[in-house]
Amino acid sequence: MENNLDQIHQQALNELEGAESIREIEDISIRYLGRKGVLTRFLRNISHLPADQRPMAGKKANELKKILDQAFRQASEKHQTQDAAGEQGIDVSLPGRCVTCGAMHPISLINEQICGIFSGLGFDIAEGREVESDYYNFEALNFPKDHPARDMQDTFFISDDTVLRTHTSPQQIRTMEKQAPPVRIILPGKVYRCDSDLTHTPMFHQVEGLLVDENISFGDLKGILTTFVHQMFDEQTSLRFRPSFFPFTEPSAEVDILCIMCRGRGCRVCSHTGWLEILGSGMVHPALYENVGYDAERYTGFAFGIGVERIAMLKYGIDDIRRFFENDMRFLAQF
Ligand code: DAH
Repeated sequence: MENNLDQIHQQALNELEGAESIREIEDISIRYLGRKGVLTRFLRNISHLPADQRPMAGKKANELKKILDQAFRQASEKHQTQDAAGEQGIDVSLPGRCVTCGAMHPISLINEQICGIFSGLGFDIAEGREVESDYYNFEALNFPKDHPARDMQDTFFISDDTVLRTHTSPQQIRTMEKQAPPVRIILPGKVYRCDSDLTHTPMFHQVEGLLVDENISFGDLKGILTTFVHQMFDEQTSLRFRPSFFPFTEPSAEVDILCIMCRGRGCRVCSHTGWLEILGSGMVHPALYENVGYDAERYTGFAFGIGVERIAMLKYGIDDIRRFFENDMRFLAQF
């Protein structure tokens, strides 16, 4: 009797091993455990055994029934997973695919860093429009019609009276129109100029700064910009203010920093001058106060405009501005 059960057990396992689909496993299960199955018949025939063997045979046969039942179920579950993977053409033995994480664009990184520094100095942050009227882009900033200073900006015209803003400075006017002094604000954004080479792209980023209050002097401008440069680069980076011209500031200055590559000794990056230009600035021209209805006798202030790409190129040692906009993952993944 026991031999018989062992045989059934062994045979069932052998058949199960050869099964190649859930269907086959089901067939085997029916053949052994079904109503007319081998084991079921064995159980039914126990009554023909000698009385002293019946209890033992019943116990063993029921145990085997449980064992086989579990073996069939496990085999069937295993096949189910494999079949599902197989149907979708998945090779479950391959190692998993890594999820690649995105990263911040280098220009966004520098933009955030610049805004972070000024925010720490008490400046608010606001953004403005990219399609601007001639009035805000030029006229209100003291560029009269036909003024030669308009030539400094290679403007994209949408119509005679509408342009893609060539700088973030129009936001100075919009801010002052909305808000009475004191004003202390940072205005980051995209700007557009019809220009393209190693150091120019038709779209680039600026961060405009504006501070207007009573008793603001050029010394305040120097202090704020020096703090900015020291935080953006390092304490050893000295600045120089070089007289310049912008219609909306008087006096105007361009700010150079000591070349961060050669520390002033002269190299290719600074064209052997030892200095690198990083921004334009100056004291707000009284004509602007008039345009926005501020009392020019009572208030003074300063403004500045930083080129974000310029700072990013210096910080990361990149010599072609166009890299930022080619979306080459090998480049972008490095930041
Ligand atoms: N808007 C100027 C430009 O794009 C940069 C600039 C210069 C902004 C002086 C200012 C400033 O606010 O005071 O070339």
